[in-house]
Amino acid sequence: MSSVIRVEELRKTYRTGFWMRSVEAVRGVSFEVAEGEIFGFIGPNGAGKTTAIKMLTGLIQPTAGRAWIHGMPAQDPDSRARLGFLPEGTFFHEYLTAREFLHFHGALLGIPRAVREERIPQLLARVGLSDAADRQIRRYSKGMRQRAGLAQTLIGDPDLVILDEPMSGLDPIGRKEVRDIILALRDEGKTVFFTSHILQDAEVICDQVAILLHGKVVQQGYLDDLLGQEISGAELVVEGIDEAAFQRLSAMAQRAVVQGPRFLFEVDDENDAEKMLEQVRESRGRVRSLVPRRRSLEDLLVEDVAREGRS
Ligand SMILES: Nc1ncnc2c1ncn2[C@@H]1O[C@H](COP(=O)(O)OP(=O)(O)O)[C@@H](O)[C@H]1O
Ligand SMILES: [Mg+2]
Repeated sequence: MSSVIRVEELRKTYRTGFWMRSVEAVRGVSFEVAEGEIFGFIGPNGAGKTTAIKMLTGLIQPTAGRAWIHGMPAQDPDSRARLGFLPEGTFFHEYLTAREFLHFHGALLGIPRAVREERIPQLLARVGLSDAADRQIRRYSKGMRQRAGLAQTLIGDPDLVILDEPMSGLDPIGRKEVRDIILALRDEGKTVFFTSHILQDAEVICDQVAILLHGKVVQQGYLDDLLGQEISGAELVVEGIDEAAFQRLSAMAQRAVVQGPRFLFEVDDENDAEKMLEQVRESRGRVRSLVPRRRSLEDLLVEDVAREGRS
């Protein structure tokens, strides 16, 4: 199976300032993105995400290592023929309307006007900007700008979309809108590579993630493999128990919280949860919910940071 993106031991060392101090922005990163996948490249600010994207899109040369898009070297302009790219903090032609902005970019790609006339309203609709299509972008909210940017990356009907921080600076609703657009792209069979410093964004939509810290990938793989099997305990919510039962249950749990008429217990071992269920029944209490607690990406990252700190 051929990968849409393949990166091997990619490195970038910047030399800056009068003393040419070196900054190792990306330190030997390797990964592969298969067709039709959503790949999240996740890490805090300064981790090296944008630098890696610049190498993927041929904007800068790697210090070492190689990158391929659709099997072609990333330096080869042909590798970008089927690529849509949203740079970080996209520059907008503020005085254009979204419709004009899309025509402008479509024309740059050599898309005939007749095709643009048909495609642009569809694109505006899919990013929820139909009503604002003829308003100048300078009057747009951050979320609308981001969606206009997304529409621009899609104007050439690419198979691969690379998005640098598409959810950055958006409120939860704006983030969800962008996530939904990304999911819809995957449904159409497109491959999406995006960066984010917000772990939850990745957790909700990614097939595969790589977590980058200080230029190095510290966790990588399919979310199902990274998090799926590992159920770490459970969360039990009960009501209608008396003080004595509460004490007995608390003794079995790692954490007990009183929430008005309800009691929440967290256990690290699922078997304990079973025993607690029996206890609740004996005490004639009611179980409101029993939810297995999956390991989250955040747990993983916290472990990684702790490990980094130790080494
Ligand atoms: N053109 C540049 N010259 C020198 N250092 C840079 C340059 N671009 C980025 N860096 C440095 O490289 C590191 C990674 O930056 P960047 O790739 O922008 O991270 P991210 O996108 O994850 O926030 C940071 O320490 C940043 O200061
Ligand atoms: Mg960045």
